[in-house]
Amino acid sequence: MSLTTVESPFAEAEIENEAKRLLAKLMHVECDSRHSWNIDTCRSIVPLTLEINALKKEKDAVILAHSYVEPEIIYGVADFSGDSYMLSMKAKEANAERIVFSGVVFMAETAKILSPQAEVIVPDRNSGCSLADSLTGAQLRELKAAYPEAGVVCYINSTAEVKAECDVCVTSSNVYKIVAAMPQKQILFVPDRLMADNIRVEMKRLGIEKEIVSSDGTCIVHDQFDPELITESRAKFPGVKVVSHPECTMDITSESDYVGSTGGMMQYVKQTEAPYFMMLTECGLVERIEVESPEKRFISGCKLCPFMKMNSLEKIRDALISPQPSQLIELEEDLRIRAHRSIDRMFEMS
Ligand code: 13P
Ligand code: SF4
Repeated sequence: MSLTTVESPFAEAEIENEAKRLLAKLMHVECDSRHSWNIDTCRSIVPLTLEINALKKEKDAVILAHSYVEPEIIYGVADFSGDSYMLSMKAKEANAERIVFSGVVFMAETAKILSPQAEVIVPDRNSGCSLADSLTGAQLRELKAAYPEAGVVCYINSTAEVKAECDVCVTSSNVYKIVAAMPQKQILFVPDRLMADNIRVEMKRLGIEKEIVSSDGTCIVHDQFDPELITESRAKFPGVKVVSHPECTMDITSESDYVGSTGGMMQYVKQTEAPYFMMLTECGLVERIEVESPEKRFISGCKLCPFMKMNSLEKIRDALISPQPSQLIELEEDLRIRAHRSIDRMFEMS
């Protein structure tokens, strides 16, 4: 994000009020290593946030932002922010001509699957995801041929092409419930092999007999945490609660006090009394909790998702003014309908 002063058509008083409103939130962000938020940094971005908020009205656009994107997007311009499940519900309910999805490409694709009438915009077409990009529809068809009896479950971090090949789509907030309810004993779960490991453990804990087969994708953020860090932090910070995502390795999840979706982790921290929390997830979530529950204390440990961080206020503004063809999500209708079925099934089973 550039913090240079922008020529602005907005009145000084309006800029000052908005800068103060933003500062009241962003001043709590400590985890952001790029810069500390003060009244000057807030003032410098306000012409852009005001411009985007005016463009939203003019263009009948709604902005959905994943919790991992920068806080100035979440608190400056987003209409809704949250985890994949919450945002897919919002995309489904969106009654707007345009949806700008500040997240990664598979999330914008999901919004298009659910709201085909809307123009769906992704601020940066390169905002991929190591999980979604690990498996093509053709590769999944090969796997299905190798396991013809399996129920096919795909994680929402997958392409529309992969979703179109699945029986049901899941997010990290409903994966265990849906896998447990599948009629088949053998489940082909794609594309996250670490989440597949966590599903195996959870099914065993629940006493549900399932055979989980997976493909070989991992999240380049959540597969990086070192379990040594947990041991060291527990020794150094007695009472610390360790929180992780089911995309982490079992070395991490088995040593965590809570494992859950982005929304689940946020709720857990807000509702739990502890002297410190260590968040083994993306840093954007820590920043959100710092803003919304400033009394919570964190031990460093989180990591950045390079794809989520490709989002910026400038790219959102430019895409609202005049989207580049690469920023528009287009899906072939037959593929969209098939992908839609697997997401609809998720809503039914959640
Ligand atoms: P959530 O489903 O928890 O939002 O996670 C999405 C994601 O990309 C996690 O890395
Ligand atoms: Fe994909 Fe991992 Fe980034 Fe989430 S954090 S978008 S799973 S690479």
